[in-house]
Amino acid sequence: PTSRARAGEHGVPTVIAHRGASAYAPENTLAAIDKAAELGFTWVENDVQRTKDGRLVVLHDDSLQRTTNVEDVFPGRAPWKVKDFTAAEVARLDAGSWFSPAYAGARVPTLDQYLRRVEGNHGKLLLEIKNPELYPGIEQETLKLLGNEGWLDRGHLERLIVQSFSAGSVRTVHELRPAVTTAYLGTPTVAQLHWFARFTDLINPSYGSLSLGYVAAVHAFDGPHDKPLGVFAWTVNDAATARLVAGYRVDGVITNKPDVVRAALGTD
Ligand code: G3P
Ligand code: CA
Repeated sequence: PTSRARAGEHGVPTVIAHRGASAYAPENTLAAIDKAAELGFTWVENDVQRTKDGRLVVLHDDSLQRTTNVEDVFPGRAPWKVKDFTAAEVARLDAGSWFSPAYAGARVPTLDQYLRRVEGNHGKLLLEIKNPELYPGIEQETLKLLGNEGWLDRGHLERLIVQSFSAGSVRTVHELRPAVTTAYLGTPTVAQLHWFARFTDLINPSYGSLSLGYVAAVHAFDGPHDKPLGVFAWTVNDAATARLVAGYRVDGVITNKPDVVRAALGTD
């Protein structure tokens, strides 16, 4: 057994609430992680970026436009990139009303606020370093904050995976803190897996690029912690796809609708 729940252990993949339970509450807000916890899920996924004054915040897009009222609060600041706003400015924004009036007043969380809420919910975190090319040094800053908040303590590390679409970022995280479990977002060729297995513990592909053979090929490699590489598939939001990828023997399913996936996989 590894620190990650493996398909082989109980035959059922780990279910990870994508941007929180984001089908039911505004993505990447504290409300979305509370909703995941309420539904009985421990693992949540998020996206980490950086403000103009260097604060780490939880937001998916590089712009604040889609998921906040930034256009109303700061007209004339198009294209509203989060890197061009201070943390105090971001804190003024409503990150819930776009989703539903029921969530009016939800905020873009800072990463430290977010970590404390996951901790309070006894949760586990799949943390994505998003758009690292825009934020030089973000890997080191993220690890520093994780360390300050106790997330890199022995006994706590099993509650954390750090992932990125940038192989360079994943490798940097591994080199800076080799004990941290890492994941690469993408579908390397089987030949490339030799290289990835030096610094990543999981390969997390879009489900559309998966097959039974590919997952088996990934599992055949040992990662940097001398355990077989894992596979978490994203973003699976319906029962049929959940059953399909479970049939491919993935180790995790990343989903906006964790309850739907759980029901499809027969663990309800
Ligand atoms: O965790 C996988 C998934 O989050 C990757 O895509 O665009 O939703 O961050 P995206
Ligand atoms: Ca993500």
